[in-house]
Amino acid sequence: MTSTFVRACDLSELEDDTPKRVELDGTPVSVVKTEGEVFAIHDICSHANVSLSEGEVEDCQIECWLHGSSFDLRTGKPSGLPATRPVPVYPVKIEGGSVLVDVHASLTQES
Ligand code: FES
Repeated sequence: MTSTFVRACDLSELEDDTPKRVELDGTPVSVVKTEGEVFAIHDICSHANVSLSEGEVEDCQIECWLHGSSFDLRTGKPSGLPATRPVPVYPVKIEGGSVLVDVHASLTQES
């Protein structure tokens, strides 16, 4: 399987619990460092066209500021209404101080 990881940013650019919005191959992605790990989640809420990187991060979840649904950064699943569908989350690896994300390989399971 070919991997399509692309560089999102430097690890040193990320502050804990402060999402960073990047665009990778035309896909808006919010990169989040929290609890010692780095996550990449699609930057658009599954409920409406709102940028998740403008929301707060807590307990490994990112909250949509508009109506308050939180999405698990590991699975993309919403914890509560009004959003009912998950947001794609993407594999991340750290290499030589760079954060790499594969936006072509969503880890989210649609159910
Ligand atoms: S737009 Fe995100 S919860 Fe409504």
